[in-house]
Amino acid sequence: MCELLPFPYISQENLQREQTEPENAVIRRLTADPKSFPASVHPSVAEYLYQLVRRIKPALVFEIGCYIGFSTLHMARALKENGSGRLVSFDLNTGVASDNIKEACLSDHVEFIQGNSSVTVKQYFLDHGDGKIDLVFIDGDHTRRGCVADFNALHDHVKKDGYIIFHDIYPERCRWKGPRLVLDYLKTAKTFFTQFDVVERADIDAFGIGICRMVSQGKNPLIVIPWPKRMSLCLKTSRVSRWLELKTFDAHYERYLDQRQSNPLIFLFNIILRGCSKFGKFL
Ligand SMILES: C[S@@+](CC[C@H](N)C(=O)[O-])C[C@H]1O[C@@H](n2cnc3c(N)ncnc32)[C@H](O)[C@@H]1O
Repeated sequence: MCELLPFPYISQENLQREQTEPENAVIRRLTADPKSFPASVHPSVAEYLYQLVRRIKPALVFEIGCYIGFSTLHMARALKENGSGRLVSFDLNTGVASDNIKEACLSDHVEFIQGNSSVTVKQYFLDHGDGKIDLVFIDGDHTRRGCVADFNALHDHVKKDGYIIFHDIYPERCRWKGPRLVLDYLKTAKTFFTQFDVVERADIDAFGIGICRMVSQGKNPLIVIPWPKRMSLCLKTSRVSRWLELKTFDAHYERYLDQRQSNPLIFLFNIILRGCSKFGKFL
């Protein structure tokens, strides 16, 4: 089972540090700002993320959806205290979060990537190679299509025993259906597919968080066959496809014969061959 962190999430250690560290001043300002919630995660979820990062000491953390950087601040603060690790945060607009991270003096630990995560995450791995992720916090595009795209882009890059955490898993409360759909797929994945330990927590935040720890790597349980491949699979099983295959084979063969005839070496070889056969007849 997933390692669960005990209550209370706001530790004594943190309460003491509250007054001194620059990042805590920014966290306090954002917590007091009514515009921060409910778009940002509840402070108890942020604290949970902080505690998890402190405990598992990740080298690479991904965040999909940073908004003003409330969850980002908590994870970055934990990385700073760990003394190692990097957080890469993706959002359609990273401006405000980036300013807040700068103000908190945490820029050394965070890289922001602006754009649609279903594109930018794939691009990240094309640019940086296949670095494995220890922890992903998914709180970006909550639609079904968006969540599936994010998961598909990330699946191959998460370490075994790594965590994927979804926010907003209770559609009846938050009205988003994507995180629930993905979570249900992960819970019921069959053998040969990647297996996750999934724990749902409603007690930390009413919208719920789903904590998924990868226990074994396999095929992506959400893999969807792309449309062109699906079309060709359908065609392969039909008579039309066999007729098409014969037609294309014929066309290829005709082209092959034309090419042979237009090749001067083959042309010369044919003349010699014909001449030889005539000579043979003559003899
Ligand atoms: C709920 S907010 C994130 C809150 C943040 N995790 C926090 O707790 O402080 C969702 C964010 O996802 C971003 N988002 C939505 N669709 C996205 C997409 N396709 N790609 C990247 N970011 C997206 C939005 O711009 C928004 O800032």
